[in-house]
Amino acid sequence: MTVARRLGRLPLPIETPRLTLRLPAAVDVPRLRRLLRDPRTARAEGADLHSPEERRRPELMVARTRREYRRADHLSLSVVDRSSGELVGRVGLRGLDWTWRKVESLSYWIAPAWWGQGFATEASWYLCRAAFGALRMRRVASQALDANARSLAVLRRLGFVEEGRERRAVVVGGRPMDMILFGLLPEELRPFEARAPSALERRTLARAARRRAPASAPPGCRRP
Ligand SMILES: CC(C)(COP(=O)(O)OP(=O)(O)OC[C@H]1O[C@@H](n2cnc3c(N)ncnc32)[C@H](O)[C@@H]1OP(=O)(O)O)[C@@H](O)C(=O)NCCC(=O)NCCS
Repeated sequence: MTVARRLGRLPLPIETPRLTLRLPAAVDVPRLRRLLRDPRTARAEGADLHSPEERRRPELMVARTRREYRRADHLSLSVVDRSSGELVGRVGLRGLDWTWRKVESLSYWIAPAWWGQGFATEASWYLCRAAFGALRMRRVASQALDANARSLAVLRRLGFVEEGRERRAVVVGGRPMDMILFGLLPEELRPFEARAPSALERRTLARAARRRAPASAPPGCRRP
């Protein structure tokens, strides 16, 4: 089977209730450049094996992710909020192993202004469903730092099961941290529920929306 046919089985874009997941394109570059100025987003891109050079020049990242798609090595998709038409993050299946039919890592980041709306959960759920469905994978793995409570919550909410812990796997800000290893089998993917934001999240969202409001917001304006 040709490499192209492997990923070609998955119709793109993927439409979820609120999001469009599509291949990154040149049109994403200015927006990515802005979002990657936030260290929390940039760190996640780093964890996703993207070089510092690509973080400075997102056009390289876009070109590389399209090459990876053609080779069927990795699938990395832009996450677009359909209500605003804005790119709000990335979600990916890194390390597509077509021999053993497994995915080395579900990866994701959402720009901080959009945190807490369930976007990471929604994008990841639909991508995992595609991995087990159209791509016929047997397992999807993922990893999160034990200090990354939000990411751990996303994985647990999807149904990922903790399978191990790499002690002192990485050093962040001079502090060694453990990496928690997760795996998901098709029957463990929890039913997807669009979730209503809590009162606290609604307040956070309203604040974020106010901060985003001016059309002329300076590039790289900091989100919460
Ligand atoms: C991790 C990340 C993708 C989550 O994005 P998100 O769209 O806010 O995620 P969701 O809204 O789908 O879910 C967030 C979860 O965190 C929970 N949460 C919210 N605030 C929290 C907090 N302060 N502490 C712990 N959990 C929190 C939410 O309740 C939700 O859990 P639930 O689904 O069990 O209710 C986002 O924070 C991010 O991009 N972080 C930086 C990059 C990163 O860490 N990527 C992952 C690398 S492993």
